[in-house]
Amino acid sequence: MTTYRIAVIGGTGPQGKGLAYRFAKHGHQVVIGSRAAEKAEPIASEIAERITEEGGSPVVSGAANTDAAAGADVVLLAVPFSGHDELVESLAEQLSGKTIISCVNPLGFDKGGPYGLDVERSAAEAAQAIVPTATVVGAFHHVAAASLWSGADFLDHEDILVCGDDADGKEIAQEMARAVTSHVGIDAGKLRLARQLEPLTAVLISINKKYKVRSGISIAGV
Ligand SMILES: NC(=O)c1ccc[n+]([C@@H]2O[C@H](COP(=O)([O-])OP(=O)(O)OC[C@H]3O[C@@H](n4cnc5c(N)ncnc54)[C@H](OP(=O)(O)O)[C@@H]3O)[C@@H](O)[C@H]2O)c1
Repeated sequence: MTTYRIAVIGGTGPQGKGLAYRFAKHGHQVVIGSRAAEKAEPIASEIAERITEEGGSPVVSGAANTDAAAGADVVLLAVPFSGHDELVESLAEQLSGKTIISCVNPLGFDKGGPYGLDVERSAAEAAQAIVPTATVVGAFHHVAAASLWSGADFLDHEDILVCGDDADGKEIAQEMARAVTSHVGIDAGKLRLARQLEPLTAVLISINKKYKVRSGISIAGV
């Protein structure tokens, strides 16, 4: 398995923390990023302690988002959609030339439940437009934070759908999916399909509420 130096921007939230745990557990070097380094450090320690207790030898640290992104090969964006564009703009220098993976979902919630926001462009396309020199890939949109932090060795009943316009970038995300599901992610098509993949998470959240489960995506026939 190829391993990477991965910065998780927004790694103090449940989604970034869960993905960071899975990546570090399976041999990747991980830096938890935060707008405040002192917020990232205890999360990094918590992940490292958990993996050590499980018998692993994790390489996890915490840093300010800018330092985390600067030192990474791959930068995972795991921040809320509100504030996403401003954050990416603020990291444009550090993100230039990097592979960026976005799991950001533009979702809204009202009395009717979760729904996909009516956006001009997906979060992944926005990141690509803000940092044209980077390679943006969409992935890990549909895996629940609680499942990522659960005791399951792998979420092997789920698939990670990957979209992007660059074959090498997609291959990196597909490989990283192994740390989560134990198998390679599925190439779901071009980056523009993030417009379909991101809001699909609203359907999963709706299913979770109805059936009191943690649903995920599994593609038949591949
Ligand atoms: N939660 C899930 O189960 C799940 C599943 C699939 C996809 N996702 C997607 O993953 C992303 C993160 O989800 P989450 O639940 O972990 O989110 P979250 O807890 O709301 O936010 C994650 C982190 O982002 C940073 N952040 C918050 N507001 C920000 C802003 N305006 N600008 C820059 N940074 C900000 C915070 O870190 P600092 O304060 O440390 O900077 C926060 O801890 C979202 O786009 C979500 O749609 C979530």
